[in-house]
Amino acid sequence: MSALTESPAWLAVEKHQSTLAQSTLSDLFKQDNHRFDRFSLQFEDMLVDFSKQHITNQTIDLLLALARHQNLEQWIGHMFNGEKINSTEDRAALHTALRSKKTVVLDGENISHKIGIVFERMARFSTAVHNGELRGYSGKPFSDVVNIGIGGSDLGPLMVTEALKPYGSNKIQLHFVSNVDGVQLYETLQHLNPATTLFIIASKTFTTQETMTNAYSAREWFVTHGGNKATVSRHFIAVSTNQDAVRQFGIETDNTFEFWDWVGGRYSLWSSIGLSIVLKIGMDNFQALLAGAEAMDQHFETTPLQHNIPVILGLLAIWQINFNGIRSHAILPYDQYLHRFPAYLQQLEMESNGKRITRHGEIVDYDTGTIIWGEPGTNGQHAFYQLLHQGTQTISADFLAPCQSQHPMGNHHQLLLANFFAQTEALMQGKNNQKAHAELVSQGFSEEEIKKLLPHKTFPGNRPTTSILFKKLDPRTLGTLIAMYEHKVYVQSIIWDINPFDQWGVELGKQLTNKILPELEQEKAITSHDASTNGLIYFFRNNQ
Ligand code: F6P
Repeated sequence: MSALTESPAWLAVEKHQSTLAQSTLSDLFKQDNHRFDRFSLQFEDMLVDFSKQHITNQTIDLLLALARHQNLEQWIGHMFNGEKINSTEDRAALHTALRSKKTVVLDGENISHKIGIVFERMARFSTAVHNGELRGYSGKPFSDVVNIGIGGSDLGPLMVTEALKPYGSNKIQLHFVSNVDGVQLYETLQHLNPATTLFIIASKTFTTQETMTNAYSAREWFVTHGGNKATVSRHFIAVSTNQDAVRQFGIETDNTFEFWDWVGGRYSLWSSIGLSIVLKIGMDNFQALLAGAEAMDQHFETTPLQHNIPVILGLLAIWQINFNGIRSHAILPYDQYLHRFPAYLQQLEMESNGKRITRHGEIVDYDTGTIIWGEPGTNGQHAFYQLLHQGTQTISADFLAPCQSQHPMGNHHQLLLANFFAQTEALMQGKNNQKAHAELVSQGFSEEEIKKLLPHKTFPGNRPTTSILFKKLDPRTLGTLIAMYEHKVYVQSIIWDINPFDQWGVELGKQLTNKILPELEQEKAITSHDASTNGLIYFFRNNQ
């Protein structure tokens, strides 16, 4: 047993869970008329209702005691103060500095100043592209921008530009290429004119195999379809922390937008990785996104733990995962514009907290991380909600929706929200035998038919959900929402005593890829792998 799972704070939550498990969520609602007021928090235009979580006041008190036992308040301070909390890479995690209006100093250097310079360049560049001051080799203005990146260098900008489509300029069509599968690049390029296309090579390290392969192929396409080597520099720009590698690729410093190693890849949309965002929605909207995130940062840094939204959300996740055995969490946005939000959060949570070693190098004896997935409602309702309602596993979920639609149309939005509310109510309440029986009787079924159907018509309920409503999905609200989840992930990591800012788990696959790639291109006998991998390689070689 580890110090954490042996601690009185942990054991107290465990003991409380075994008592609370005897009552259902419906019971808890019946016992307390003020549950909604007690277990919901508001921040600006956003409401976070966690009353449909299987908790009582005591649960929150005990989870807060656990947070204090893990020194959460101090760790929040460590992050904002720029301490090197990414211990395995000896780096700070200062994505909050990118959106802070205060001056942030790191290792004696005013990094706010450096950030300001880059943001100014991004604004100037985007204006110059929009007003045609910057043009392609033929003298025509740019019509298309292709962001080539993967992971954090793709998912953040892609999710944000999809979410904020109503705020986007029609002058620029934005495309994202991430997969090393050539079909994505092919499908993107075949509709584009090299003379009016601008490529952003977005990579923190500028060594990521997928991104560099796509970047070289895009350059090859450019020079063989009308452009030439001399005009590459007008059409290719880079966003990276690795200036040397950018130069080696052939992109000049003037065409490079830098960021810094204290910005983690999955926390980088706030940096120059957001250049594609700026090109699409403009600098003012990007600043509004940053301002929304900063507001949430301040809330997280200064609000007492019991009223602190990311803290409560993080602790509820701990409650679900570690004390209720719920290891799958759905993100269900009732907003089509948020259709990439689940994928974005998947990287944020799973790459951050998918760890099994503590900050002190010990193997954990408790679950960390969780499986994050999801789809926009109402599509999910007609696909996987069956399992949420009647499956054997309990899955927790966040439901998210704006109160105002960006494009009101008849009663679509009311219908959408009616579905949202109905689903969370159904997941919580379920339907017992008695109710299901009465319904079948009223529908005219015979007792014999009812006997057969009844077990299928009941719902266990008791499925925990959190509902997040906001007025409108505008840049500020989106910034707030993303920062809220970033901090929630951080809170979980502190309870688990793991480093959420590294990602060593992606390395082994990369190493083996490098070993296997030449084997696919040769005729030599392959014996160095296990029988399955050898067999797969042979089958591929014989059929490619
Ligand atoms: O392999 C994982 C990862 O390092 C992510 O953390 C990161 O967002 C992604 O690859 C892309 O990295 P880069 O921006 O350096 O190309």
